[in-house]
Amino acid sequence: NTALRGIFRFYELMAPVLEEEDIVYLGEGNTPIIEANDHLAEKAGLRFAFKNDGQNPSASFKDRGMACAFSYLKALVRKHGWDEVLTVCASTGDTSAAAALYASYIGSPLKSVVLLPHGKVTPQQLSQPLGSGATVLEIPGVFDDCMKVVENLAENYRVALLNSKNSWRILGQESYAFEVAQWCDWDLKGKCVFVPVGNAGNITAVMGGFLKLHRLGIISELPRVFGVQSHHADPVYQYYSVEDPAKRVYKPVTVTPSVAQAAMIGNPVSFPRVKHFAEQFEAIGGKGSFQVLQVTEQSIMDSMIEANMNGHIACTQGGECYAGLKRAKELGLIAEDEFAILDATAHALKFSGFQDMYFSNSFPPQFGVQPDTALANAPELVI
Ligand code: F0G
Repeated sequence: NTALRGIFRFYELMAPVLEEEDIVYLGEGNTPIIEANDHLAEKAGLRFAFKNDGQNPSASFKDRGMACAFSYLKALVRKHGWDEVLTVCASTGDTSAAAALYASYIGSPLKSVVLLPHGKVTPQQLSQPLGSGATVLEIPGVFDDCMKVVENLAENYRVALLNSKNSWRILGQESYAFEVAQWCDWDLKGKCVFVPVGNAGNITAVMGGFLKLHRLGIISELPRVFGVQSHHADPVYQYYSVEDPAKRVYKPVTVTPSVAQAAMIGNPVSFPRVKHFAEQFEAIGGKGSFQVLQVTEQSIMDSMIEANMNGHIACTQGGECYAGLKRAKELGLIAEDEFAILDATAHALKFSGFQDMYFSNSFPPQFGVQPDTALANAPELVI
């Protein structure tokens, strides 16, 4: 069956009501899981691997959700015969790249509009929706400001909202959990999954995917799931850092510039879903099966560079996961006989500007990042 490739190998778990003709497949999913070499494993204090979701068609994990969401949308458009449909999203750069790609593939009657915070997406990310022919609106402010605008649009006009509030997105992104489980031969005992947290759609989907497999009896144990946030954008960490659940109060935070720019979000729209799944996770997996870690900007950059100097192609958010793994080890939250799978959510090349600033020691002071001399001295350009 040619349609059921990539994430759609799991279509009974994500999209069983869809007709095959509506499935939009651009090669998403089935991304490689690459074990860290001995040097990195020694640095981390345990064996681990990166899952390279940067090897998706628009170079981030967002394609998993978009493939599923656009398949449902295509089915709806066919059913209703609409002659024009605006697809809209707010984005830190990757959702917009993916949404514009899928909309341009399907073509008429879809038209893609994306809202970006001015100056807070990388040049590579900005070029993606432009290259796919989307209308790109840049507004002053941060992602959270863009999100308010598109939520308002979705409440008042007939537009298709493609942010992770859209449950079809979450369904597609559950495929990440299915692929990890399959790679582990459906045995998740002693496995830990690290996910960077921004708008919190990814961690919702990952927990939801594992819970679904557990409920169906496909896996008998849940893995442990660790969310990771930068200290410059950490509302979910702040909430869970209060030990006593009865005393936890959710508060949006004001973000400051972060190298994990794609996750630089002060008020994640999927936070209520995280809370819901976290409770279910702990009810089945016990205390410690879901945790959120905070890491520094410095450790994120050092970790990204260290990973990529050892054969990986991790973006800053992938670096954030690796920094989270080292933090978990340092805090004694993870044992050396466990195995970690880190989500390298996008391709490193989307974030090469941060790498350049690292090597040239030119980070603006608000990031608070200095190059680690041992790492930064390594590359050489000989002309
Ligand atoms: N990593 C990358 C590369 C991302 O693009 C994002 C989110 C995240 C991690 C965080 O995932 O939001 O599901 O918690 N990017 C969104 C965007 C917000 O607009 O591209 P999350």
